[in-house]
Amino acid sequence: MTSDNTAEPIPGGAADRAGSLPFDTSVAHQARIYDYLLGGKDNYAADRVAAEAALKIYPEWAFTARANRAFLGRVVRFLAAEAGIRQFLDIGTGIPTAGNTHQVAQDIAPESRVVYVDYDPIVLAHARALLTSHEAGATEYIDADLRDTSAILEGAARLLDFSQPVAVTLLAILHAIPDSDDPHAIVARLMDAVPSGSYLALTHAGSDLLGQETRDGFSEATDPLVVQDFVFRPLEQVARFFAGMDLVEPGLVRVEEWRPEPGTAGTGTSSLWCAVGRKR
Ligand SMILES: C[S@@+](CC[C@H](N)C(=O)[O-])C[C@H]1O[C@@H](n2cnc3c(N)ncnc32)[C@H](O)[C@@H]1O
Repeated sequence: MTSDNTAEPIPGGAADRAGSLPFDTSVAHQARIYDYLLGGKDNYAADRVAAEAALKIYPEWAFTARANRAFLGRVVRFLAAEAGIRQFLDIGTGIPTAGNTHQVAQDIAPESRVVYVDYDPIVLAHARALLTSHEAGATEYIDADLRDTSAILEGAARLLDFSQPVAVTLLAILHAIPDSDDPHAIVARLMDAVPSGSYLALTHAGSDLLGQETRDGFSEATDPLVVQDFVFRPLEQVARFFAGMDLVEPGLVRVEEWRPEPGTAGTGTSSLWCAVGRKR
């Protein structure tokens, strides 16, 4: 997409006022870069510059984004249709696009309840698109940082019944959390709050899925331009997020390899690990 056919979000909207991440169009934000990679219009010049710099080093990043989004559809269908889940806590929601979690879940089970969480003001500005629940179910949006698990759990408890299974989805968000914020402890706090039979689904950039040179080039191109961290982690560290859980088949694999439905994201090789675990 070029800047010519890309609409800028409206100044003075909710994005100017709220959100725990400051609204700043001069630096790139992961939510808006992801929107650009998926062909959306809710991104700014800084986001497009950062995305294009990374694509020069790593052209399959666009496929990786599409494969991640396609995984979201497959995993939510699995959770609703096969695992019988009716409650979802989707953290790191992203800018709404086609096939948001509540739409996928409620297509299968209209009574599904979905709580969305993101800390980017542009996601908040578009949150009304996430609040279009089927009348049999319900959706809620919480403007919060993943690291503030108490605020998330307190807010989510207004809609979700934590005595019943909940699917926690953390898709393409944990690599924005540096080691110094202990992402494993964050996930453990969330999963401690949900009962046995709950699920965790996540995707995460894999340090062992890209060559060192590409990773270094990617980081050099994007780190100075993007407000968030981007931390690649190896399979072993991604597997540790699932402590106390049984992995659903096919286990920990690249996103496009998890119960694939060929053709949905095009063809390519992503750099994202994914897995789904069921709490014992
Ligand atoms: C790449 S997008 C993924 C969107 C969606 N989960 C998907 O997979 O299609 C990552 C999202 O995580 C959000 N995010 C990153 N760090 C976060 C944090 N600490 N707290 C809340 N949201 C965060 C970003 O704002 C962005 O919307």
